[in-house]
Amino acid sequence: MTLEELKKEAETLRAAWAEAIGGAADPESLEAVRVKFLGRKGHLTRLLSALKELPPEDRAQAGRILNALKQEITQELEARGRELEAREREKRLAAEYYDFTLPGRWRPLGHLHPLTQVRLEIEDIFMRMGFDVASGPEVEDDYHNFEALNIPEDHPARDEWDSFYIDDRRLLRTHTSPVQIRVMKSRKPPVRIICPGRCYRRDTPDATHSPVFHQVELLWVEEGLTMANLKWIIEVFVQEFFGPGYEMRFSADFFPFTEPSAQVHIRRPGGGWLEIMGAGMVDPAVLTEVGYDPEKVTGFAFGLGIERMAMLRWGIEDIRLFFQNDIRFLSQF
Ligand code: PHE
Repeated sequence: MTLEELKKEAETLRAAWAEAIGGAADPESLEAVRVKFLGRKGHLTRLLSALKELPPEDRAQAGRILNALKQEITQELEARGRELEAREREKRLAAEYYDFTLPGRWRPLGHLHPLTQVRLEIEDIFMRMGFDVASGPEVEDDYHNFEALNIPEDHPARDEWDSFYIDDRRLLRTHTSPVQIRVMKSRKPPVRIICPGRCYRRDTPDATHSPVFHQVELLWVEEGLTMANLKWIIEVFVQEFFGPGYEMRFSADFFPFTEPSAQVHIRRPGGGWLEIMGAGMVDPAVLTEVGYDPEKVTGFAFGLGIERMAMLRWGIEDIRLFFQNDIRFLSQF
């Protein structure tokens, strides 16, 4: 081959290249074009290996020509590659277009049961007043549920707590008061606790009775406590929980484990009276039973119905609604 022939071939190759690269419309065909010209058996590669057929004095010039051509081709190839890549990207983004103004899909979100909400709120109020939260077993024995609370066997007061017995000595606790006994037996005064929990009674279900219900027990034992302190605590609590507009009524009652005893009724605006708790000064016989000295310390306690609090807050007329798990009811809270 002569220098002239090589120059001519280089021109032909450049023209062929220009046509080929112009026709490469996507990365795959671009790669095919690259192989065709720059690959191991490509046109340019072939021409480069023809260099050694030239007379030695022409090789340097021919080499410069071919190298320039190679550089040109390589640069155009890269530029075209970037261009095609950008175009592909545009296409992909257009296909993935998100409309951020579309309204989202609504998913139902669960929440705490209304009784749980009320319990947590009650706990919160009393914890702020310095009470600990205690707990006790739901399967109780006769001793803690009755005897230690000054309700001996065959005492007529037991009728008030119609019980589910498991065997001779064990029953489902009928109130949270047995926790008073357990706490006092395990701590020295002063004692200041509340105990929220589930209770069971063999009541026939109706609008205000359910065989399973919840109470919060409160117990405060210390030197010098009086009924006035009890009344104050209850008033502060009712005010905190219900806010203004609710009326409270304090009246005499009887419990074997408190003396004197009281009951508290609440009326929501426009509603009727509903009893929310039994309360009273801890009976000296109970303090003696747990090893406290009733000459030195006094105490008071109450048992608050959680369902009653929820009914008053939301104007719910039937306690059974809390236990039916009807989503139409529950989703309102
Ligand atoms: N345990 C009583 C009940 O369930 C309520 C109560 C608690 C009364 C504490 C006085 C003191 O009926």
